[in-house]
Amino acid sequence: MRMYDIIMKKRNGGELSKEEIEFFINEYTVGNIPDYQVSALMMAVYFQKMNDRETSYLTRAMINSGEIIDLSPINGIKVDKHSTGGVGDTTTMVVGPIVASLGVPVAKMSGRGLGHTGGTIDKLESFKGFKVDMTIDKFINNVNTIGIAVGGQTANLAPADKKLYSLRDVTATVDNVSLIASSIMSKKIASGADAIVLDVKAGSGAFMKNDDSAFELGKTMVDIGSRLDRNTIAIISDMDQPLGNAIGNILEVKEAILTLKGQGPEDLTNLSKKISTYMLLLSGVADDVEEAERLIDNAIESGDAIRKLREFVKAQGGDVRCIDDIELFDKSKYALEVRTDSCGYIEKIKADDIGIAALILGAGRETKESVVDLAVGIYLEKKIGDKVEAGDIIATIHANCMDKAKEAEKMILNAYTISDNKVVPDKLIKGVVTKDGIRKM
Ligand code: URA
Ligand code: CA
Repeated sequence: MRMYDIIMKKRNGGELSKEEIEFFINEYTVGNIPDYQVSALMMAVYFQKMNDRETSYLTRAMINSGEIIDLSPINGIKVDKHSTGGVGDTTTMVVGPIVASLGVPVAKMSGRGLGHTGGTIDKLESFKGFKVDMTIDKFINNVNTIGIAVGGQTANLAPADKKLYSLRDVTATVDNVSLIASSIMSKKIASGADAIVLDVKAGSGAFMKNDDSAFELGKTMVDIGSRLDRNTIAIISDMDQPLGNAIGNILEVKEAILTLKGQGPEDLTNLSKKISTYMLLLSGVADDVEEAERLIDNAIESGDAIRKLREFVKAQGGDVRCIDDIELFDKSKYALEVRTDSCGYIEKIKADDIGIAALILGAGRETKESVVDLAVGIYLEKKIGDKVEAGDIIATIHANCMDKAKEAEKMILNAYTISDNKVVPDKLIKGVVTKDGIRKM
């Protein structure tokens, strides 16, 4: 088999066989095929696309390129969740304790990652003393006894995807549905998930800028799940503005704690409940949506959900006093109020730009070596649809450096669009894709 022929076949619109896909993934992973040939193939895929069969072969080949975590010693159906990016998305911190308190085993391998804020591990390190390093035995034992554990990613998961994603990133070939879907699904399946709930974001702050492409991505991932025997459901949700009000690690953890106590922002609460609902269904803990919703409301109202967070943080060495009193978390040196000089209604909040402003403050990593400042970030006081008068505070910047705060202030003011007319925000949840089809809401 020759890479040249595979490139030409795809360039001319042909369907690649399982053998051809396995060949290029395996040989590329070990370094036998140069980047320029794979770049050409990715560009051919971008224009000619892949069908569902090719996409599932690609996913399988990427899973098999590295280690596959065996979570079979954990009792029950392991349901994982994944969000396709977005700004200020704290749902994992909310959903994990809710579903764990109801008996869904949560065994999460998380990374630190790059981006506007830290990954789940950075956020959890807001609890002083919290540790993710543990043996696989302890990890499994914690899930079997407490119901939830978060470990650092040490395994060599889907290395083919790592190479391919870096290459796509610099060759303008990221935004192809088959390539995104196989990339995400390969990592989830390699990390041991039996079933997967996806939160696919649509809007200005997401990969998928419009609803149609988000539904298509959701459908493609659900189809991969079916072909690879992993029951998968995709929720399509709005990302035209950041989710919740907090962007930044400690700020988001505080917001997650409030949400688990039933006092969180409406959008974060509703999306977290929706994701939890489908996790309960896929795990078999609930038989239908109504039962799941009832169980989730009860977990929050009874305090079971917040107690589960406490138990989990304690088991991994974290200081739990700040769960009881969120004022005990570290605070930044400065809190700078951002005021608008317009009056009207908030029409848009460019999520990307808010994310970059948080990054400038130090909430995320620009490079792998960057150190995350857990206390800094942005709190959005106004969201789409809110009415404002000139002089009103639209956001608060939490910073440890005044120069950076001033820079973030300019960006935040530019990220907001204020309209004279009343604005009705888009629906947060646009629909659900299951193996039975698409249901728009
Ligand atoms: N996230 C991923 O993990 N892979 C993609 O290709 C795009 C987003
Ligand atoms: Ca929208």
